[in-house]
Amino acid sequence: MNLHGKRVLVTGASGGIGRALVARLLDEGAQVLLSGRDRATLLQVVEHHAERRRAAVFAANIASASDRARLVEFASRWLGGIEILINNAAVNDFILLTAQSAESLDATVATNLIAPVDLCRRLIPCLARSEDAHIVNIGSVFGSLGFAGNSVYCATKFGLRGFSEALRRELADSTIRVHYFAPRVTQTAFNCDAVNDLNKVLGNVADEPADVARQIVQRLQAGQLECVLGWPEKFFARLNALLPRVVDRALLPKLTTIREFASQPGSASAAEPAHAFVTAKAREIR
Ligand SMILES: NC(=O)c1ccc[n+]([C@@H]2O[C@H](COP(=O)([O-])OP(=O)(O)OC[C@H]3O[C@@H](n4cnc5c(N)ncnc54)[C@H](OP(=O)(O)O)[C@@H]3O)[C@@H](O)[C@H]2O)c1
Repeated sequence: MNLHGKRVLVTGASGGIGRALVARLLDEGAQVLLSGRDRATLLQVVEHHAERRRAAVFAANIASASDRARLVEFASRWLGGIEILINNAAVNDFILLTAQSAESLDATVATNLIAPVDLCRRLIPCLARSEDAHIVNIGSVFGSLGFAGNSVYCATKFGLRGFSEALRRELADSTIRVHYFAPRVTQTAFNCDAVNDLNKVLGNVADEPADVARQIVQRLQAGQLECVLGWPEKFFARLNALLPRVVDRALLPKLTTIREFASQPGSASAAEPAHAFVTAKAREIR
């Protein structure tokens, strides 16, 4: 697929991977509509790019249904309507479930799952006007592999992966292709200090956002539909699908460490005391 002249909406365009995606898409000749909550930040993303005349910005909180309606209205008319939707915006609290607030739970589900599903739902009529339209849902390796301290985030990314698969099949006889690309740990502000420290201890490699964006755009251009980015994460995602009990056992020795980091100052769990029943259960399963 040739991106030259394509009209692309990128949500989460002010974030680490989003910025890199915008730069890469502009380099490839696309026209890019950037979305995020803060207009000034979005303008900063493109102010130094040589091709900024092919960029436009639209501020919207995608966790809000009325903001999504405004974004859809704009994107459907922008230069004749977008041809590619990249659902990239997301949030995560690295936190034990019993310590997670109801507000955080709602915000995570609304931003990571309801928003991309609703944007697809509302933008499909616009995308269908193109002979070659694409929906790109940015997931996570945690959309294939459940990981302690990330249960709600995992739920949203597992949901997004299932949604992408079902929608791909629902649109199989249309001009719209549905892609799902799942990065592994990436060096962006998405990860709090506790997550970065935990990843160092566990030896998890963190990718550069520019490299993640390059892989996503190349895979989109090549017509690839679904991929977990990075090795050995790709292998563990497959293993988890085939032999989840093996992965349960492999992750069990890391549980105490994960729980310690999820309760560090700076992690969202830090405000909450450790829950006795969780610790008791940990002793039970050892
Ligand atoms: N970084 C990683 O380790 C990693 C690993 C695997 C997958 N991913 C996935 O990669 C994608 C991008 O992550 P990232 O690392 O680039 O994250 P990031 O740097 O934290 O950026 C997140 C983006 O989402 C936007 N956003 C958050 N809540 C929003 C809301 N309610 N309305 C509108 N925009 C909102 C933020 O915009 P504003 O705050 O400016 O509104 C920002 O542009 C996400 O889907 C994430 O799940 C990341």
